Amino acid sequence: MRIAVIGGTGVYDPTWLSQSTTEEVATPFGPTRVTRGHLEGMEEEVFFMNRHGAGHKVPPHLVNYRANIWALRELGVDRVVATAAVGSLNVAMPPGAFVLCDQFLDFTKARASTFHNGGESGVVHTDMTEPYCPDMRSVLVQKAKELGIAAVNGGCYVTTDGPRFETPAEIKAYRLLGGDVVGMTGVPEVVLARELGLCYSTVALVTNFAAGISSEVLSHQEVLDVMAQNVAGLRNVIAAALPL
Ligand code: HPA
Repeated sequence: MRIAVIGGTGVYDPTWLSQSTTEEVATPFGPTRVTRGHLEGMEEEVFFMNRHGAGHKVPPHLVNYRANIWALRELGVDRVVATAAVGSLNVAMPPGAFVLCDQFLDFTKARASTFHNGGESGVVHTDMTEPYCPDMRSVLVQKAKELGIAAVNGGCYVTTDGPRFETPAEIKAYRLLGGDVVGMTGVPEVVLARELGLCYSTVALVTNFAAGISSEVLSHQEVLDVMAQNVAGLRNVIAAALPL
């Protein structure tokens, strides 16, 4: 098994890995960067990718999702653990909770969200009955519990285009539709991973109650602050779960 961690907002830290090297990987969709190294004395190599690029310079709607997933597949990766900062629509998933997603709702409108655009790449309809790997999910939940971290096994991730946060009316609608958490990057990353046959799991960390559920105005700084408080736990859960 070759495993990659895609680090989302607040998880920029290639120091997670020792003896690491970073390389640029060329793909048909443009270049991307991947770090490889060893996590906590693991013998096996692990790959690490910053979803938003070095220093969080790429906003969610401009992430080159196809290059990222293609590069991981080219490097022989077969399992991906993605981290995601999310807002919560569900009072049972408060800030600080880890949610191992099992479904998604896609409200993105303007993203390159498939590798199959006809012609040579074919007309392909990929099954999404189980978009997130159930085996990885249960291992991650188990390890979180062993570490004393509240982790929810299953949750529906609503993806919006961003980069703005949602209106309270949107959040109310997403909740009625069955959404539990909301973020800006889940789709198309999971879809592209499934198109290439990679097992994919998202560890979502709730950083805030979404607009209208919280009476406070939401800021990106709040998201970063809560992420910073929980990033060590996130790393420990992933490290404990490897090799997945
Ligand atoms: N909405 C969208 N994305 C997010 C949120 C949110 O409330 N919190 C963290 N990422």
